[in-house]
Amino acid sequence: MTGRAAPFVVHGIIRPPGDKSISHRALIFAAIADGPSRVRGVLESADVQATAGALRAMGADIPALSDDFVVNGRGIASLHSPESALDCGNSGTTTRLMAGLVAGLAGRVARFEGDASLSRRPMRRIAAPLTDMGARIEFEGAEGHDGLPMRVHGMPLSAITFVNAHASAQVKGALILAGLASGSGVAVQEPQRSRDHTERMLLARGVQLTVTDDGVVLPPAQTLNAVDVVVPADPSSATFFAALAALADAGKLRIEQVCLNPTRTGALDVLRRMGARIAVDEERVVGGEPVGTLVVGPGVLTATAIGGAEIPRCIDELPMLACVAAMAVGETRITDAGELRVKESDRIRAMVENLRALGVEADELPDGMRIVGARRALSGHVVTHGDHRLAMAFGVLGALPGNAITIDDPGCVAVSYPTFWQDLAVAVAPSSERSVGRTPLVIAIDGPAASGKSSTAQWVAQLLQVHHVDSGAFYRAITLLALEAHPSPETWTAERVLAQAHRISWRLTERSVLPMIDGAVRDEEMRGSAVTRQVSRVAQMALVRQWVNDQVRAAGAATDVVVDGRDIGTAVFPTAALKVFLVADPWERARRRLIQRLGRRPNDAEIAEETEALVARDSLDAAQSAPARDAITIDTTIVTQEEQVERIVALAKATRDRLRGH
Ligand code: S3P
Repeated sequence: MTGRAAPFVVHGIIRPPGDKSISHRALIFAAIADGPSRVRGVLESADVQATAGALRAMGADIPALSDDFVVNGRGIASLHSPESALDCGNSGTTTRLMAGLVAGLAGRVARFEGDASLSRRPMRRIAAPLTDMGARIEFEGAEGHDGLPMRVHGMPLSAITFVNAHASAQVKGALILAGLASGSGVAVQEPQRSRDHTERMLLARGVQLTVTDDGVVLPPAQTLNAVDVVVPADPSSATFFAALAALADAGKLRIEQVCLNPTRTGALDVLRRMGARIAVDEERVVGGEPVGTLVVGPGVLTATAIGGAEIPRCIDELPMLACVAAMAVGETRITDAGELRVKESDRIRAMVENLRALGVEADELPDGMRIVGARRALSGHVVTHGDHRLAMAFGVLGALPGNAITIDDPGCVAVSYPTFWQDLAVAVAPSSERSVGRTPLVIAIDGPAASGKSSTAQWVAQLLQVHHVDSGAFYRAITLLALEAHPSPETWTAERVLAQAHRISWRLTERSVLPMIDGAVRDEEMRGSAVTRQVSRVAQMALVRQWVNDQVRAAGAATDVVVDGRDIGTAVFPTAALKVFLVADPWERARRRLIQRLGRRPNDAEIAEETEALVARDSLDAAQSAPARDAITIDTTIVTQEEQVERIVALAKATRDRLRGH
């Protein structure tokens, strides 16, 4: 709550995507069970795709991820060595769980690779106990570096009793998977209980493990039954919306079907302690996990201390809690959270640096941070280091009216919550007189082929100082990856092409939304002739169009954008604040297109030929490119591009002023 004039009201229903920890395990356990398991509600995010890809590379029958599919498990022994390295992307859970599995499969070898962030993360924590059991693990990096790339050699393993100095569900899970794969007994003890999804899910699959006061014991020679699973919503993702509601002035958010496993609900306890109103509705047990709907409303937020045994129960939510602390009155201290330094980024350093950049008093502690909060407006630029949870935590702060926060890499939310920006836009969406301050402005520019949509949109974005989204760049990015994965385009299906989608995220540059591939810009290859030849094949696939539209919508929910393309004002952004439909006489469009293509003035015969082609294309496109009913049509036949851009900018400024109440 900042001392704002108009109250900031949240309302609506949010259904966060499936739990990430449970989704990884659902795929792995379904793959290694004997028989079919139906999986519903799995998280379709980049991290979970990495686990699906790793399992497929070892011979598991994992279909394309969707809301409801069946995995035909062929038993743990059916897994073979992958032909090439397992690409774990940004996912620590994929790496550590899969490494445990491979370690217990005698004779199998797998090389693990990941992005720059994952490659920095410590793997000795699993390598040491797995080596003690008898596996061989080699780190390929510099001397002393215990990160990826890493090669794991499966061996016959012996039993282990491992006393971990820290609570870690990934270490526990890795050792249990090694035990299951090798048939050896495993006991893991922890100072506090780490999240216990592995235990719950294996018990449901008939594995005879025992949960003790301080850990878990897996007897030797266990088999897994195939069991159907429904993945509840992720409490870590839900926390962003619980925090948003807590920070509002009025209203409430219903956050549905959230996993309320007590090893995961620390953040809710902290938010309650700080003053948020949180009720739980419709509580029940689904697939061995307690699930319920959270009803969260604002409160007068005050500082708190977060530490000790509470930390493992809220470790992934600490970035969001630190942001809430920045708005809560008093000094919040987070301690005993040294683990934050080895997450997707050094979250202690990154949180403190970003909070300071916004004007908040904050300091690093060796194992946590100190934040002095107050109700005030924050402004500045956030550097996420590609860390999804930082992007979302600051995204929530940025959604509060009065705050002006830009985020360098909003697209990195694809790791755990691909639809985060859309859900955030829904939660703060303007309804009659509700807060409209931070609702991003979307200007949709549509029109037939060669109407100059793209260059106009780019120019308008420049003048308005907002971001231009070129949906074509997303088609190009996925075409490039499809070409690399399957060099013969005749074999492409929408599913095969989309299997690459999780490798694509996007970030904001000064004036555009830039697709990234595996975290890197590959603009030149994307614009190359090989991609140009195949991009229309991909753009015709309905499922791929849907995926591109989702990316474009996410960008439009994250920041002010000018978007051009087919269907933009109808299917993609039906509620865009301003829709412009550009038309021009076919002769004039043909002339402009030829000047661009040939770099000279075309003659009349050339224009006539191109005009015919354009008219034919128009009739093919007729259904697709009808203007939205509320679009403003601009005939550009006899106006210069400058004049046309000026008109759109004037319309956009008027729309922006109206929306922002100036
Ligand atoms: C996870 C365990 C936790 C958590 C991570 C997911 C899991 O990590 O932070 O996001 O699914 O097992 P640690 O095991 O390193 O504590």
